[in-house]
Amino acid sequence: MKYRELGRTGWKVSEISFGAWAIGGAWGNVDDGESLDALRAAVDCGVNFIDTADVYGMGRSERLIAQLKRERKEEIVVATKAGRRLSPHTADGYNAKNLSEFIEDSLRNLSTDCLDLVQLHCPPTDVYYRPELFAALDRMVEAGKIRYYGVSVERVEEALKAIEYPGVQSVQIIFNCFRHRPAELLFEQAKRRKVGILARVPLASGMLTGKLALDSQFAADDHRNFNRHGEAFDVGETFSGVDYKTALRAVEELCALVPEGVSMAQFALRWILMFEAVTCAIPGGKRPAQVRENSAASDLPPLSDTAMNAVREIYQRRVRAAVHQRW
Ligand SMILES: NC(=O)c1ccc[n+]([C@@H]2O[C@H](COP(=O)([O-])OP(=O)(O)OC[C@H]3O[C@@H](n4cnc5c(N)ncnc54)[C@H](OP(=O)(O)O)[C@@H]3O)[C@@H](O)[C@H]2O)c1
Repeated sequence: MKYRELGRTGWKVSEISFGAWAIGGAWGNVDDGESLDALRAAVDCGVNFIDTADVYGMGRSERLIAQLKRERKEEIVVATKAGRRLSPHTADGYNAKNLSEFIEDSLRNLSTDCLDLVQLHCPPTDVYYRPELFAALDRMVEAGKIRYYGVSVERVEEALKAIEYPGVQSVQIIFNCFRHRPAELLFEQAKRRKVGILARVPLASGMLTGKLALDSQFAADDHRNFNRHGEAFDVGETFSGVDYKTALRAVEELCALVPEGVSMAQFALRWILMFEAVTCAIPGGKRPAQVRENSAASDLPPLSDTAMNAVREIYQRRVRAAVHQRW
């Protein structure tokens, strides 16, 4: 496992880290024992950064991570998120009072007295035009409740606005073979300001593993079933917002580029790591075998120019029209 510096935090985090949404909920049935084994496997592979949120199973994901931290002596940085428990989910809800309540709950779930990194959880765009909220986050840092803060965004423009606030240490955004736009202006700006980039949904919800087919079935409580068309939250979070059949055709072409001895998932993750501005990819994993496979992507050699150009060409021809100007 290789490590990269996260913004100005001084942390060196595993370039393949762990996304802990699926072990909380919204991905069909998960078994806590197996989830813990997946987390343990991640640490065994050198993963030292875990991304979670208070809403992932309403504390379930955070509590599993707390259990992992009790078991292990390795340093593990935990990034959580706040805001999505607001109902309705409005910009006005993002205020100092609500945020500090959410943060108190995360402190309890994670059994700690200071959160490593708190990210605003894809708030409405207007939140980025409310400096008073970022000032409130600064006060929470001063009070020792949170060490650092960052944002998780849907859109490139939200990220560009967020990084104007000097306290923002990280931007989490969808970046994968189906989502190239962050690599245009955002990466350059984030690098210039030394803001970390967490590449989320790196496997396009499992699509970029090459294992899905037209007749794949998903449980009723799996967002790949219930949010296929954005019924519950932003459609971009499910298969990166690419229509299922279009995605399958693109993946078929991507599979043809994968070198022998490498899996499609590893190729997709290694593609992300080709971008210097990226701090880490945070693939979700429900089972130890998935985690071990994903982690090994860090040790692969760089992709060739030919492969990089071919991925770009497939994106341009198959995917770009559906996503490029939407996020
Ligand atoms: N709004 C936000 O801030 C937000 C939104 C989305 C995600 N995130 C973060 O980003 C993380 C990653 O995104 P994601 O979990 O949505 O999607 P992802 O990482 O693209 O896909 C993860 C899923 O793919 C499957 N998978 C993973 N590795 C595999 C492998 N090697 N072989 C076969 N299947 C594999 C697993 O599901 P199955 O086994 O069921 O197929 C896994 O749950 C999340 O866990 C979360 O921490 C944040």
